[in-house]
Amino acid sequence: MKTITCVEDLRVLHKRRVPKMFYDYAESGSWTESTFRQNSQAFADIRLRQRVAKDISKRNISSDMLGERQRMPVALAPTGLTGMQHADGEILAAQAAEEFGVPFTLSTMSICSIEDVAAHTRKPFWFQLYVMKDRDFISALIQRAKAAGCSALVLTLDLQIIGQRHKDLKNQMTAPPRLTLGNLLNMATKPRWCAGMLRTRRHSFGNVVGHAKGVENLTSLSAWSAEQLDPSLSWDDVAWVKEQWGGKLILKGIMDAEDAAIAAGLGVDAIIVSNHGGRQLDGAPASIEVLPEIVAKVNGACEVWLDGGIRSGQDVFKAKALGADATLIGKAFLNGLGAGGKQGVTQCLEIIEKELDLTMAFCGKTDLREVNSDVLYTDA
Ligand code: GLV
Repeated sequence: MKTITCVEDLRVLHKRRVPKMFYDYAESGSWTESTFRQNSQAFADIRLRQRVAKDISKRNISSDMLGERQRMPVALAPTGLTGMQHADGEILAAQAAEEFGVPFTLSTMSICSIEDVAAHTRKPFWFQLYVMKDRDFISALIQRAKAAGCSALVLTLDLQIIGQRHKDLKNQMTAPPRLTLGNLLNMATKPRWCAGMLRTRRHSFGNVVGHAKGVENLTSLSAWSAEQLDPSLSWDDVAWVKEQWGGKLILKGIMDAEDAAIAAGLGVDAIIVSNHGGRQLDGAPASIEVLPEIVAKVNGACEVWLDGGIRSGQDVFKAKALGADATLIGKAFLNGLGAGGKQGVTQCLEIIEKELDLTMAFCGKTDLREVNSDVLYTDA
């Protein structure tokens, strides 16, 4: 097998090893996928300023997120159906993140449940929540996250309705997959994945099935969103969740400076500038393109993080230079997970760390916390 040296290598292996419907779920955007592509393109268009003859012998890329030191400012984002990319995927990714020294976020729409991930990890992880119509179910999830020792809640604000993802619809994506002839033929070409899935009992939405009223055999995210997600979500609901949770709160899915100001005004700990990896409003700009105006508007009232398009340590560095306090990776770690389970996630983190450290050094900086837009060529 070819040596893995970058996240793209992991993506290629992910594609080879995981059934098409789950690979496509991870690696896609909505409608024309223009925002999905722009998330990467906008990073590629940023030019870095090389400096020389600075003493770069001692370097530090560790950074704080919510007041806690992390090995680098990169958390694993909440991603739905992670346990379909690899058997027990959420547990493996959480363990890899914990051992590496960065935060892991468990999605509401995970395959492994909150309790299951807590039982297989030592450090607290973060839990991601959607606002659902059934407020009792939200309260119960919040209590479960507290009981499991989760140290922050990530509230997603941009998925009350779902962006049309053509690939998911065409693949009739469900978890567990429907055993149609096409699916069986495709799965037959993925022996590692099948062997893992035969070994585990975790095949459907662990936080939801058997927990939410009337949800006994949920198999698809779109069915779930149509039935459960509450399109009437307002800032009052956000304040209600904040009160119910009572701990560190992060709001995800902010793309507008006005929204960022409202969020910061609610006293949240961090916001995530995110277009949901280009999976929701196609036609929106890349998240990195709106970052500077949001950072300016928030003006230090809370931490500002960014996700969307981060596939390398260079992307993390560029986000830092444009004012992000930290970043999250979704597709990149799923590439690692699909390619090689826990070891693949670790490999993804190691690749990003090395790229981040070397990029910083080439730009003549030795401490990531001191990096600003001086390291970029800016038009302004
Ligand atoms: C879930 O958050 C998704 O984007 O599919």
